[in-house]
Amino acid sequence: MNYFSRQAMMLNNNYQSISLNISLLVFVFFWGLVMVEIVPQCVWRINVDIPEEANQNLSFGATERWWEQTDLTKLIISNNKLQSLTDDLRLLPALTFLDIHDNQLTSLPSAIRELENLQKLNVSHNKLKILPEEITYLRNLKGLYLQHNELTCIPEGFEQLSSLEDLDLSSNRLTTVPASFSSLSSLVRLNLSSNQLKSLPAEISRMKRLKHLDCNSNLLETIPSELAGMESLELLYLRRNKLHSLPQFPSCRLLKELHVGENQIEILGAEHLKHLNSILVLDLRDNKLKSVPDEITLLQSLERLDLSNNDISSLPYSLGNLHLKFLALEGNPLRTIRREILNKGTQEVLKYLRSKIRDDGPTQSDSVTETAMTLPSESRINVHAITTLKILDYSDKQTTRIPDEVFDAVKSNIITSINFSKNQLCEIPKRIVELKEMVSDVNLSFNKLSFISLELCMLQKLTFLDLRNNFLNSLPEQMESLIRLQMINLSFNRFKILPEVLYRIPTLETVLISNNQVGSVDPQKMKMMENLTTLDLQNNDLLHIPPELGNCVNLRTLLLDGNPFRVPRAAILMKGTAAILEYLRDRIPT
Ligand SMILES: *[C@@H]1O[C@H](CO)[C@@H](O)[C@H](O)[C@H]1NC(C)=O
Ligand SMILES: *[C@@H]1O[C@H](CO)[C@@H](O)[C@H](O)[C@H]1NC(C)=O
Ligand SMILES: *[C@@H]1O[C@H](CO)[C@@H](O)[C@H](O)[C@H]1NC(C)=O
Ligand SMILES: *[C@@H]1O[C@H](CO)[C@@H](O)[C@H](O)[C@H]1NC(C)=O
Ligand SMILES: *[C@@H]1O[C@H](CO)[C@@H](O)[C@H](O)[C@H]1NC(C)=O
Ligand SMILES: *[C@@H]1O[C@H](CO)[C@@H](O)[C@H](O)[C@H]1NC(C)=O
Ligand SMILES: *[C@@H]1O[C@H](CO)[C@@H](O)[C@H](O)[C@H]1NC(C)=O
Repeated sequence: MNYFSRQAMMLNNNYQSISLNISLLVFVFFWGLVMVEIVPQCVWRINVDIPEEANQNLSFGATERWWEQTDLTKLIISNNKLQSLTDDLRLLPALTFLDIHDNQLTSLPSAIRELENLQKLNVSHNKLKILPEEITYLRNLKGLYLQHNELTCIPEGFEQLSSLEDLDLSSNRLTTVPASFSSLSSLVRLNLSSNQLKSLPAEISRMKRLKHLDCNSNLLETIPSELAGMESLELLYLRRNKLHSLPQFPSCRLLKELHVGENQIEILGAEHLKHLNSILVLDLRDNKLKSVPDEITLLQSLERLDLSNNDISSLPYSLGNLHLKFLALEGNPLRTIRREILNKGTQEVLKYLRSKIRDDGPTQSDSVTETAMTLPSESRINVHAITTLKILDYSDKQTTRIPDEVFDAVKSNIITSINFSKNQLCEIPKRIVELKEMVSDVNLSFNKLSFISLELCMLQKLTFLDLRNNFLNSLPEQMESLIRLQMINLSFNRFKILPEVLYRIPTLETVLISNNQVGSVDPQKMKMMENLTTLDLQNNDLLHIPPELGNCVNLRTLLLDGNPFRVPRAAILMKGTAAILEYLRDRIPT
């Protein structure tokens, strides 16, 4: 059994990795504990000296005498307080991996040039102000991680790091990158984010293998047009810069993600889109776009489109033909799409846009004349909602009576939802019964209802009922015939008890009756509600919680905060439903 990794030595203060390194435990644990400020001599000399422990003890078998077999190839001295490294580094010429991230190094020793075998060097999170020129001798270096330092420039000859594939220079103080940089022809990933770059050299386009380029959070005002020739580019981040126009990418046929959010881009034209054959993510948020061209439909692979916080007032309906998983439009002065539809999320918005294509032909965009129909007005009815969304919507009109023309507009359409919320209704409109065979969802919240009329009880498909913020203090027995009701929201009403009829609707899964004056619940009857999983009784007048409520084992969410009872105490309530139920069960008198 080998308890230690033969070629690695860790001197970090990460105890997990230390514990893997049992043979070095004495040694490493000690240094790990105190956070080394200098690297002990014996580390540098590990290839030269035979460690004392060998003589001291722990009988190592021949195979485990690692220091005799092989030179150290990995050295991890991260997360310490090292301020410098000495030229003794040259005593470890076999190193392939040197990890010194999270220290306080202000420079690297020039002996670094002798680590000819080094493939990965992690110096991130230090205080490097410059890099020694000697670093350019590391011809085998594949990964160089310099993020979060204080570098202001890149040394002469850096391009000689011809094996470099991965270079992270993010979060430094670079103001330019030299043109010669672009001779790093093996580079696959380049991170320049969070620097102070005002421009990129056109030569960067010579990095023919580059797949990921991150230039977020710089001061870029333009992008060299040559960037367009980067054939391998897959991810391009240009967020948080000062770009006024979008680059074009005629050769970037593999580009999958383009992030140009938080710039000052005003125009999105067909020419910007037509080559983005592979694009999956297009982030244009927080810019100054006024419109989106019809050609957006060319982006058939697009999955995420973020247009939020622009100046877009109209959208091409053809957008509805894209197979988007995510479409963000908030913060735009859109005239035609109602907030209500926007709030329903991507799929509903796309559905809406598609429905308009059918109405108006494939190429037509929305225009001012059509907005009249969708702008809320006293008398207009949202016919579109009826025909495509199956919603009879007459909400937020502050009306005391739903006009007949609202019901007339249904005609032969199927309606599954009714939304009469935010009006002044004292009574549920009788004509609701005309929809009794179809409607599953009724929203009567924010009205002035003090009773429920029998017409509502006839909606045999009713599944979700929102009655919050009314003046109700009872529910009629006839509600028992709502044999599909799963969820009822009675919050902010005037109930003094949990209405009896609810116990007899076994399909109920969610009962929300917070912010009433409920003084008692019947645990025996409640237990019969076999599918009840959520019961919200917050902010009521419960003086006593019956222990038998603990038998309602199907409850997953029981909310009792804001009631005047003394037990269970707050500490128990905070532990969640399972703990409350268990506590209650333990107190059931036997
Ligand atoms: C040290 O190792 C030797 C064998 O290599 C063994 O004989 C001796 O008992 C060990 N000493 C201690 C203190 O364990
Ligand atoms: C380099 O160190 C940073 C921490 O400063 C760490 O997040 C990163 O994963 C390391 N990179 C590699 C390739 O080891
Ligand atoms: C670039 O570096 C930043 C900061 O270190 C990091 O948040 C970002 O994920 C990196 N970009 C890529 C594409 O890995
Ligand atoms: C009903 O209308 C209100 C106000 O207009 C809105 O907030 C709500 O999302 C609408 N939808 C449903 C299904 O109640
Ligand atoms: C009912 O309408 C109100 C606002 O009028 C809204 O806040 C609520 O989310 C709607 N209920 C449902 C279940 O959609
Ligand atoms: C029920 O109504 C209350 C009060 O308006 C609200 O806070 C809560 O989110 C509603 N619950 C659901 C699931 O609609
Ligand atoms: C309870 O829920 C299950 C699963 O959804 C369902 O099959 C069953 O019919 C429900 N019981 C009642 C009484 O509604």
